[in-house]
Amino acid sequence: MKNLFFDSVSRVVALAFTILPVVGIKHAGAQDDVPHEIVDFEVQDDGELAQRGREAAAALFGNLMGRLAEAMSQGGTEAAIRVCQSEAQALTGQTAAELAKKGIASVRRVGVRVRNPKNLPDAIDRKILEDFLARWNPDSPQPPAGQVIFLPQTGQHRYYHPVPVAASCLACHGSPSNIEPKTAALIEKFYPEDKAVGFAEGDLRGAIVVGFSSPQGTKAQSE
Ligand code: HEC
Repeated sequence: MKNLFFDSVSRVVALAFTILPVVGIKHAGAQDDVPHEIVDFEVQDDGELAQRGREAAAALFGNLMGRLAEAMSQGGTEAAIRVCQSEAQALTGQTAAELAKKGIASVRRVGVRVRNPKNLPDAIDRKILEDFLARWNPDSPQPPAGQVIFLPQTGQHRYYHPVPVAASCLACHGSPSNIEPKTAALIEKFYPEDKAVGFAEGDLRGAIVVGFSSPQGTKAQSE
């Protein structure tokens, strides 16, 4: 069980963070970097920002999944849910603080459907998730490339990294009929509004959103 989980997590990490060519496309949260009334954005093809965004997203994913796998191996799914519930938000904040010296203003997770309302997508996040979904092929071994966008009203850039569902996620995000009753009861207790179930392996689960410090910090602090 333990090894299976680790294998599966490392596979999804490898899958999610394979360096993909940035595909040019022609169309244009609460603790976020910009006010919610900001809704205009431009899709950009910026390889350097995409690379820095990917690294920041990998740092957050690695920290969260590392902690999850550790809890899972020590106390199984129920222990892992308790850890996610009590630590995921703090660990996300801590990762953002570590990334600040690399010119990154914010890093957060959003879901296509969410468990914690703090991870609800804002208007721009929703558009990007819709775009990922439109380009999503659950049968393909590679999800679409991440996306850099520019917010003309604030001069800021963001990077979106798509997060696919792996087999190891299904114990907590899979079909309700396949979730262990004790696990389901804990989810219900901590997240009465939970919508983050019913996913299948290969689905789009959500995205990691990286906000770059800007305008000055965007390029200047790059190493
Ligand atoms: C042990 C149960 C468990 C497993 C396994 C699990 N998650 Fe979660 N997941 C949670 C919990 C609990 C939350 C809510 C955390 C919080 O309060 O921020 C969550 C939240 C998320 C979110 C943020 C959006 C939201 O719904 O709030 C994403 C994205 C996510 N999980 C992706 C994944 C992926 C991808 C995997 C597999 C690689 C995975 N999870 C495996 C329990 C789990």
